[in-house]
Amino acid sequence: MQCKWIVTGCLTLLFNWTSCQEISNLTFPDSFLFGAASSAYQIEGAWNESGKGPSKWDFIIHAVPIVVDGSNAEVACDSYHRYNEDIAALKELGVNYYRFSIAWPRLLPRGFLNEINPDGVQYYNNLIDGLLAEGIEPWVTIFHADTPFPIYYLGDWNNANIVEYFTDYADLLFQLFGDRIKTWLTINEPLMYCATFIKNAVRFLGQVSVPTGVTEYLCGHNVLRAHAKTYRLYEEKYKSSQKGRISIVLNTDFSMPASDSEADVNAAQTKRDFDLGWFLHPLVYGDYPQRMIDNIGNHSSAQGYPFSRLPSFTVKEKKDIIGAYDFIAINHYTSELTVPNNSSGITVSSYDDDHNIATFKDPSWAGSAASWLKVCPQGFREMLVYLKNHYKNPEIVITEQGYADEPNTLNDMERINYYRLYLNDALKAIYEDGVKLTAYTAWSLLDSFEWDSGYSIRFGLYHVDFEDGRRTRTPKESARFYKNVISTRKLTDL
Ligand code: NOJ
Repeated sequence: MQCKWIVTGCLTLLFNWTSCQEISNLTFPDSFLFGAASSAYQIEGAWNESGKGPSKWDFIIHAVPIVVDGSNAEVACDSYHRYNEDIAALKELGVNYYRFSIAWPRLLPRGFLNEINPDGVQYYNNLIDGLLAEGIEPWVTIFHADTPFPIYYLGDWNNANIVEYFTDYADLLFQLFGDRIKTWLTINEPLMYCATFIKNAVRFLGQVSVPTGVTEYLCGHNVLRAHAKTYRLYEEKYKSSQKGRISIVLNTDFSMPASDSEADVNAAQTKRDFDLGWFLHPLVYGDYPQRMIDNIGNHSSAQGYPFSRLPSFTVKEKKDIIGAYDFIAINHYTSELTVPNNSSGITVSSYDDDHNIATFKDPSWAGSAASWLKVCPQGFREMLVYLKNHYKNPEIVITEQGYADEPNTLNDMERINYYRLYLNDALKAIYEDGVKLTAYTAWSLLDSFEWDSGYSIRFGLYHVDFEDGRRTRTPKESARFYKNVISTRKLTDL
């Protein structure tokens, strides 16, 4: 594994693994865009102010002790009041765009169009106009995990009616902000939302209480239907006048076979199909990957379900879904090695049992403060090439990439190492592999509320002082690094 060689060899010999990796002297193309990202729930705070309704996360973290450090997002970075400081930080970095999300329950406190919160409209208008005034393009994520509580109560993404609810909400956003937003991202990380977050529920309630193996695919199915409907709505009603583009944000670790054996290679393909193909295959080819259809169908019937737990699309839905993207948007942080999980049977119905693949990280990959995030830039490059080869050479935008470290690390050399290595492989993918990678988004602009990890790990280019009522933002060394990359468009002139 090339990745292993680079990291192990450099660590052992030089104790500084970036200096050992040959850093490309090439420049990012003139048209290449750099950005930074955040999400509303993770930064805004003001959780019950100015007409905002509660979200699913507001409810869960106040009801169940899932956050490891016992914290919450009631204030977070206080960006609802301090968005001008965020804009100043973005300006300082010199980014071309800022990817942020709109909090559905801030705009529609009850989730539906029957009540529109004027303060929410004002807030996002201020943010958008403030960004544009500084020459920063606003990129909007329509949904980033914060379902309005009333819609969560109705079953969240398991309820097929969410397709209408979501499309209504998106339609409102196009009406309100579409004159100024040219890049829309409908739904963030459905794999995480539908298949990974559910593990928290299982942790607290036990597997028998949670309909695993059913909810994941229902959720994913409704996500795809809602995305496609929104894409078609925009296409028909707004695209010719607003001239924006739309995609959905998919996340994936890149699965690589643990050895050259046929079984491991096959395992990697199955895992790629379950993680990435689950959403991307329907968008590019009109239906789920055949391995998903077969595995889930066979397991469902062996388990006595009278239907496949993987729902099917109607002919009309397939027509809407196929091609419902203007570019491919990917969040990618790390990679994994795969082997068949022969010990797992089909006694439990769950997403993990359906793919039946075991994954692990190569012990030689450098770590981070998040157990799931290990450094493997080669996996990033291989993923980009895989997307090119398997999904019709699309335009690819990296909508998130970043590194987790301990709180209060201002001299964040490990984050710089990570970005340098990953951006280096991005350059190789562009110039040596011919991948159409057009934009790169650092996660995150700020240290922020990291879901069930609370504030115990940090991703920001800017440090936020959560002890200080002012939530003072301070650039880390990585902010200086990123600013330099953006202004020189190179990795070597630092
Ligand atoms: C992806 C998610 O979109 C974001 O909310 C999260 O903070 C980062 N990954 C880091 O875990």
